[in-house]
This record gives sequence, C-alpha cells and structure tokens, in this order.
Amino acid sequence: QILILDFGSQYTQLIARRVRELNVYCEIHPYNNFPELTPNIKGVILSGSPCSVRDENSPSVDLGKFRGIVPVLGVCYGAQLMASVLGGDVKPSQFREYGRARLEINDADSSLLTGISDSSQVWMSHGDTIVREPENFRIIASTESVRVAAFKIEDELTYGIQFHPEVTHTTEGKTLMQNFVVNICGCSQDWTAESFVEQTVQHLRQRLGNDRVVMALSGGVDSTVAATLVHQAIGPNLFCIFVDNGLLRKDEFEEVLHSYQDMGLNIKGVDAKEHFYKALAGLTDPEAKRKAIGKSFIDIFDQEAHLIEEVKWLGQGTIYPDVIESVSINGPSATIKSHHNVGGLPDFMKLKIVEPLNTLFKDEVRAVGKTLGIDPKILGRHPFPGPGLAIRILGEITPEKVAILQQVDAIFIGGLRKWNLYEDVWQAGVMLLPVQSVGVMGDERTYESVVALRAVTSIDGMTADWAHLPYVFLAEVSNEIINRVKGVNRVVYDISSKPPATIEWE
Ligand code: XMP
Repeated sequence: QILILDFGSQYTQLIARRVRELNVYCEIHPYNNFPELTPNIKGVILSGSPCSVRDENSPSVDLGKFRGIVPVLGVCYGAQLMASVLGGDVKPSQFREYGRARLEINDADSSLLTGISDSSQVWMSHGDTIVREPENFRIIASTESVRVAAFKIEDELTYGIQFHPEVTHTTEGKTLMQNFVVNICGCSQDWTAESFVEQTVQHLRQRLGNDRVVMALSGGVDSTVAATLVHQAIGPNLFCIFVDNGLLRKDEFEEVLHSYQDMGLNIKGVDAKEHFYKALAGLTDPEAKRKAIGKSFIDIFDQEAHLIEEVKWLGQGTIYPDVIESVSINGPSATIKSHHNVGGLPDFMKLKIVEPLNTLFKDEVRAVGKTLGIDPKILGRHPFPGPGLAIRILGEITPEKVAILQQVDAIFIGGLRKWNLYEDVWQAGVMLLPVQSVGVMGDERTYESVVALRAVTSIDGMTADWAHLPYVFLAEVSNEIINRVKGVNRVVYDISSKPPATIEWE
C-alpha cells in the first residue's frame, strides 16, 4: 500500500482517490501521526497544505522515518517542506503560480515523468515557491514561471513536484501517479472490488465466527452494501432492523423492506411512526428535531436489539471519509448542522463494532455493491438525510404535513426518473414551507401551502450547484403537483448554490 501523509490540503482525499483508481490500496494519516513503517508500505506521498513552510508552527515530519527507506513523492507543500528542511530556500512567489501551466521536461530519463509529453498541462496552486534547491536536488521539470516544478534527489527515489497531479486539470496526472505508485514503488495493481469482497468476506468470517451481529439498515447504499458483505460471511447470524420513522418517502418502507427480503437478508421491519411523531410534537427548531429523532431512533433500536439473544456485534455502514482523522490547521470548524448519525450509538449497548466499509470511498462502495449483485436501483439512489422529511418540513411536524410532502416528493422524483434526469442530479427533494399563499382554482380563492423543489449537482455534498433542470420539466411537475396534491397551490424552484445556502433548508 501507499501511505499518504496529510498536511491539511483540500486535495488530500483526491490523491487517495487517484491511487485507488490505479487499483492500489492507500491510507491517509495525519502528518503528526506517522505509523510504523511495515514492509507492505511501498511508498509515501506528502500532501499539500494551506500553510507555508515559512510559518513558525507549520506542520512538519521527521523525514528520516521513511526517506531513503521507501520512495517518497512530495506534492506542493510536501515538496517545499523537503526543500526547506534539507537546506534549500522557500520564499513567497513573485509570479502568479495559480492555474494552468505548461511543463517543460528537463530530464527525459526520469522515471517519474516517463510517458508525459513535453509542454503537458499541469495545475499549480501555491503562494510559496522553491527559490534555491539543496545541492543534491536535480531539477527534472520546469514551467515558464516555476523553475523547480519537479525535482529528484540524487541517488534516492525521492521526488517533489510543485503542481497537483491529482486534479483533472493536470491532464497527464494519472500517468505521473502511475509512474510513482506502480513503476517506482512497485505496487501491484490487484486491489479491485472483487478482491475486496473476497478478502473482506473471509476476514469477517474469521473475526465474527459464530457470533451474532445486529445492524440497522436505512435503505441507503452504505448500510445495504455493508449488510450484504456481513450476510455473505455469516448468513442468518446477521439480524437486520429497518425502522419506519414516519419520515421516509412515499411507499419507501414497504419497497425497501421487500427488496431486502428478496436479497435473502434476515430483516425485521419496525413500525415506529407514532413514537417519532410523539417525540417531534411541538418542536420547530431544526437542531431540536434532529436530537429528538436521534434519541427516538436509539430508543427503538435498543429495544429491538435486546430482543435478539446473545448478540455480540453492531454492524455499521461507516465509510472512509467519516473516519479519516482530519488535520485541523485553523482549529476546529464550527458545527453547521449536527448530523446525528455521525455521533455513533450509546455505549450502554456494549457491543463490539464491525464496519466493513470503513476503508472505502463512496464510489468504491458502489463498485463493491455492483460486484455483490445488489440492485442498481438501490446503488444509484440519491443520498437521503437520516432525519428524513422532518428537516424538509419547516416548522412543526405533523402526520398530515408528512403525507402532503410525500405526495409532492413522489411527483418530483417520479418526474425526474420519467424524464431521465434522475441520474443527472446528485440529490433532489422538496421542502414544505410554513407559508400559505393566495391562489385561485376554478372560481374559488385558495389559501394553501408553498413547496420548494430542490435539485443539486455535486461531487460529495460539501459544495453544490443548483441543477439547471429544463423549464418544460419544471412546468410539467409544477402543474401536476398543484392539480393533484390537496393543500398545495404554489411551487417554487430553489436556485441557490452551496455555499452559501445548504442543500437542506434546515
Ligand atoms: P447540507 O444541508 O448540510 O447537506 O448542505 C449536505 C448533505 O447532508 C445531508 N444531511 C444530513 N444527513 N443527517 C443526515 O444523515 C442530517 O441531519 C443531515 N442534514 C443534512 C443532506 O441531505 C445532504 O446530502
């Protein structure tokens, strides 16, 4: 595997994705927590950083722990760090070093640049630059304004680059990554979805033996794939629970329950609608709603889990981005919304945790799901928040409002599918606003609710753009909603991007 040492760059996870795309396993570790170098670590990549090596408390690492022992690639800050620690000079850039540049290769023999064309486009993004390199550094590529675009340390497999091979604007970045990971580090490219399934099932079988495992399923991709892996390993010793919190989409509970049954999972559907509605009664603050839902879920889950005798493990669909220890450069970030399902479950359950997907990125989870033969409809589903429709009904939740929103949502999502637009958007849903507006139907004056349609494009939900859906589609959906859903007389479309707006309205 490859070890990526994170100095806090926004691109660190992207480096990991690029390595994984080469079918090579890699892990991200914080710069101040370098693990012991074991023989399966074949190379180290030092990430970029928002810091400057010139800052007093800039993040650093003892290069002696790995340099000269395994191949090293420093990217941007990682390259500047090596230059500065080894006796060179790093200063603020005098020229613009942001955006596209053309690479001039000075050393065609360098294994790092094999197969990369001269004047290939690369992406630069740095405020500092290496102005004087240590004596044993050989410059292997430059650009018009960056003399030390890439270097190699003589007699070592240590390299540095001041551009970013992991972003797509570096058009031959993949070749460079392959040169480093495969040719220089010698990693074999056998980490595939198939090999992951085979190894994970075997490993789970050994680890779980004849123990019983309980898992809560949500109908989402992660919990479904995780449960399927555990099921393949231990069969009926996996007990799944699917809770109807009364905040799911229209008919979702029944449909998902059936597909789980078809998959052969040992699943119990629990109708807990009343419990959730009671806990939500009178609450209007979004965070209070989330907390009430989180607590209710734990109550129900605990009650159900206690009905299973001698259960020893709790299975969870946690994925890699949730567990990467983040490097906090500017202190902890403010809590914008409390995503209740990130907090974990209460310790009174005293169960051991099994998380078969905690090394995978989302797209890898989908690939594993495909290998396992899971229904593409489940794998391709849009993300849906744990608190469900409760955070899409602004103000107090009542079963009547849930029923209205479910009908509107079904028309919108059904329309996206019918028009083949579902896969073009990353997430879509509808908000029921606590606003009544005047309308006219036939000869009657109406005074009914407003709904806001929301559809976004995104990569990971951290940033998002509103989806530019065709007017004819919006017109048809709006018509259908107003004609068919009693209680709604006005439809608006949300054209805000994130940031500054969030995807959900609460
Ligand atoms: P925001 O609204 O923060 O949403 O832009 C980003 C993504 O997170 C989902 N989301 C949640 N998921 N519990 C969840 O499990 C929550 O409390 C929650 N709030 C937002 C949202 O649907 C989007 O995919």
